[in-house]
Amino acid sequence: MIDESKIIVPPIKCQGIKTKIVPFIAEHVKRSEDGVWIEPFVGTGVVAFNLAPQKALLTDKNQYIISLYQGIQRGEYTPSIVRSFLELHGEKLEQFGGKYYTEMRDAFNENGDPLYFLFLNRSDFNGMIRFNRRGQFNVPFCQKPNRFAKAYVTKICNQVASVSRIMQGKDWTFKCCSWQEAFDNATENDYIYLDPPYIGRDTSYVGEWPEEEAVLLAEYAHKTPANVCLSMWKENEFRRNEHLYDHWSDFTWFEQNHFYHIGAKETNRHPMIEVLAIKRV
Ligand SMILES: C[S@@+](CC[C@H](N)C(=O)[O-])C[C@H]1O[C@@H](n2cnc3c(N)ncnc32)[C@H](O)[C@@H]1O
Repeated sequence: MIDESKIIVPPIKCQGIKTKIVPFIAEHVKRSEDGVWIEPFVGTGVVAFNLAPQKALLTDKNQYIISLYQGIQRGEYTPSIVRSFLELHGEKLEQFGGKYYTEMRDAFNENGDPLYFLFLNRSDFNGMIRFNRRGQFNVPFCQKPNRFAKAYVTKICNQVASVSRIMQGKDWTFKCCSWQEAFDNATENDYIYLDPPYIGRDTSYVGEWPEEEAVLLAEYAHKTPANVCLSMWKENEFRRNEHLYDHWSDFTWFEQNHFYHIGAKETNRHPMIEVLAIKRV
């Protein structure tokens, strides 16, 4: 069992982050310790960081998240390097406000530097990650020039330190690739955790997640010899997710209420029933 108060919070934020349901996932996932934990949509990494398997293949199409975690793993982005970077640019943000945020965003869209990505992710609107069709990051500023106050920078550096600690001594590979590639070579001993973008909700933050791709993912999940656990919303007060019923009904479902923070206004935030659909229980 994972104690909720001890959950490791990663330095990256994203929509659909699974921090709140980590204990629920840990309770239902029964994996073999010598198998590989495979996450083709690793996102912030919160699930892997908390389950802390010995062997893992953690992939995502977001190259900046992957490069950041590769850099932390290599010891290139230490908490003190992250602190210096955020302090330096945080001071300028405080001085010049939104204009500086836009300069940093333009620079990031030129240089693709993972530290710039971290800066933007922690000072943009709602910690969103969204790229336009040309692959350029386009989330606006959170409108708080004093964003990188001392306590906030310390919090982020502590998050970098804790994910770095978790990675140490583990056989983990971070890779930027398609989700299909992450399925290659998976064996019966391995466990694949799937948290794809959501169909039927706002997916603009990760580009398109068309129905055909979701159906293909279900096919891969059924064919792989590995065990599989899918995270997906089942229903809210307005609608139910037909894709889940159409393509995953032969898996065993476990349900929990999950409160998504997707809108700026409190009134836009609705509870959602989240399902873990598991192939072999
Ligand atoms: C719902 S988020 C995963 C959240 C993650 N479980 C967490 O708690 O942070 C979905 C992730 O899938 C990635 N993604 C979207 N389309 C993808 C694709 N075609 N191939 C690989 N990754 C993709 C996105 O970059 C995003 O990080």
